[in-house]
Amino acid sequence: MSNKTIFCIGAGYVGGPTMAMIAHKCPDYKVIVGDIDDARIQAWQSGQPPIYEPGLAELTRSSIGRNLFFTTDIAKGIRDADIIFVCINTPTKSFGMGAGRASDLQYWEKTAREILEHATTDKIVVEKSTLPVRTAEAMERILRSRGGKVRFEVLSNPEFLAEGTAVHDLEMPDRVLIGGHETEQGQAAVRELAKIYSRWIPQERILTTNVWSSELSKLAANAFLAQRISSINSLSALCEETEADINEIARAIGMDQRIGAKFLKAGVGFGGSCFKKDILNMVYLCEFYGLQEVADYWAHVVEINDYQVDRFVRNLLVHLFNTVADKRIAVLGFAFKADTGDTRESPAIRVCRKLVEERARLVISDPQALENARRDLADVADRIEFEPDPYVATQDAHAIALLTDWAEYRHLDYERIFKGMVQPAFVFDGRNLLDHHKLYEIGFNVYPTGKAPMSHL
Ligand code: NAD
Ligand code: UGA
Repeated sequence: MSNKTIFCIGAGYVGGPTMAMIAHKCPDYKVIVGDIDDARIQAWQSGQPPIYEPGLAELTRSSIGRNLFFTTDIAKGIRDADIIFVCINTPTKSFGMGAGRASDLQYWEKTAREILEHATTDKIVVEKSTLPVRTAEAMERILRSRGGKVRFEVLSNPEFLAEGTAVHDLEMPDRVLIGGHETEQGQAAVRELAKIYSRWIPQERILTTNVWSSELSKLAANAFLAQRISSINSLSALCEETEADINEIARAIGMDQRIGAKFLKAGVGFGGSCFKKDILNMVYLCEFYGLQEVADYWAHVVEINDYQVDRFVRNLLVHLFNTVADKRIAVLGFAFKADTGDTRESPAIRVCRKLVEERARLVISDPQALENARRDLADVADRIEFEPDPYVATQDAHAIALLTDWAEYRHLDYERIFKGMVQPAFVFDGRNLLDHHKLYEIGFNVYPTGKAPMSHL
C-alpha cells in the first residue's frame, strides 16, 4: 500500500491518459492532474476527455473522483505531491537561434521555477515530455538554485504511446524507460517510480538507464520510426515508375526478421505532433555539437516526408488534366492517422492548402477531426466545405483524395458514391486503404501510392 500523491503538470494527449492509467492500476495512489487550460480541465472532470482516444473515457471514469482528480491549481498540486510528472508540450522554437528546429524550452523553464517556488517538501520530478538530451541537467540547476532544504531528484521517463492506441500502449507497453542518476538518491528515486509501473508491467520490461541515455532514446526511437516511413515512401515513388508494388515490397522485406514487418506502410507521409519536431530537435543538437553530417542525414527524413506530400498533390493535379480549378475534390480524412481527432502536422493540412492554391473547391470529411480541420484552415475556410457525411462530401465531386486510414472508409458503398460523382471519377488513395481492383471495376480511375495506376482513360 502507498499513500503517495502524484501530481502531473499538463493534461494533454500524454498527461491525461497516462495519469488515468496510473490511477486505474494504482488505486492507493492519489493522482492529480493540473493544467492552465481551464476548458481542458473541465472536460476531464466531467468524464468526457477533451481528446478522442478509444477506451479513454471508460478508463478515466473508472477512477475519477476516487483517486483521480483534475485541477487548475498548479501551486497546490506541487505543494501536496511526492512525485511530480511534467507532461507539458515542448514545441519547436519559432524565433531566434535554432528557430524551426530547436526545442522551445521557455515553458519548461517556467515550470521548473514554479516547482521550486511552491515545493516545501522533497520531490521526485519526472520528465515525461520529450526533451533534448541534457535538459534534465538544466532543470536540476534551477531546482537546486536556492540551495534550500527541499531535495529534488530529477528522472527521465519518456512516453512511447501512439495516438489512437494510447490506452492499449499504456496498458501493455513494449518497455518503460526510466533514466536516473547513479547516486544513492538517484537510484532510490528510480525504484520509487519503477514501483508504480511494476503494478501492471512485468519487471523485464522496465528498463533503467542513465538520464542522458533515456532522454536521447526517446528522440532516437521517433527518428528511427519516421526514418522507416520515409524509406518506404521514397521507394513508393520508384514503384510508381516501374510497376513494382510497394505493398508487395513491404511484405517481402518485412518477412526478414532483421527488418521486421511494422511501420512499412507507404502513404501520403507521416504527421503528428512529434516525429518532425523530435527529428528537427535532434538535427539541431547534432549541429550544436558540430556533427553536420549526422544532422544532414536525419534532416533528410523530414525532407523526404515533405516531398511525399508534394508528390501526392502533383500526381492528383497531373491526372486531373493539369487543372483542379473549380473542381470539387472530396478529402476523406483530415486527422494525421485513424482513431484520433488530432490534426497536428497532418499531411492533410499541406495537401489541402496546396489544392486551395490551385483553386479547387474542397470538401473535407472526417469522423473526428472536423473541428480541428476548421481551425487549421481558418484563413482559407471560406473556400472549403466541412462535411461529416462522406456520401454528401463525395456527391458531385470530380475526385476523392483519401488522406487518413479510417477503417470505415474501407466499407463505404463505392458503387453509390461513383454514381453521384462527376465522370470520369478519380480516387487518389494516399493511404493504400481501399480495394483498388474493386474500385477500378466499378469504373473509378484509381491512383494508389507506390503502385501502378489503374485508369480507364
Ligand atoms: P498537449 O499539447 O496535448 O498537452 C500539453 C498540456 O500542457 C496542454 O494542455 C497545456 O495547456 C499544458 N501546459 C503547458 N504549459 C503548462 C504549464 N506551465 N502549467 C500547466 N499546464 C501547462 O501535448 P502532448 O501531446 O500531451 O505532449 C506532451 C509532451 O509529450 C511533448 O513533449 C510530446 O513531445 C510528448 N509526447 C507526446 C505524445 C503524443 O502522442 N502526443 C507521445 C509521446 C510523447
Ligand atoms: C509516434 C510514435 O509511434 C510513438 O511511439 C511516440 O510516442 C509518439 O509518436 C510521440 O512521441 O508523439 P504517433 O505520432 O501518435 O506516435 O502515431 P504513429 O502511429 O507513430 O503514426 C505517425 C504517423 O506516421 C501517422 O501520420 C501515420 O499515418 C504515419 N505512418 C505510420 C505511416 O505513414 N506508415 C506507417 O507504416 C506507420
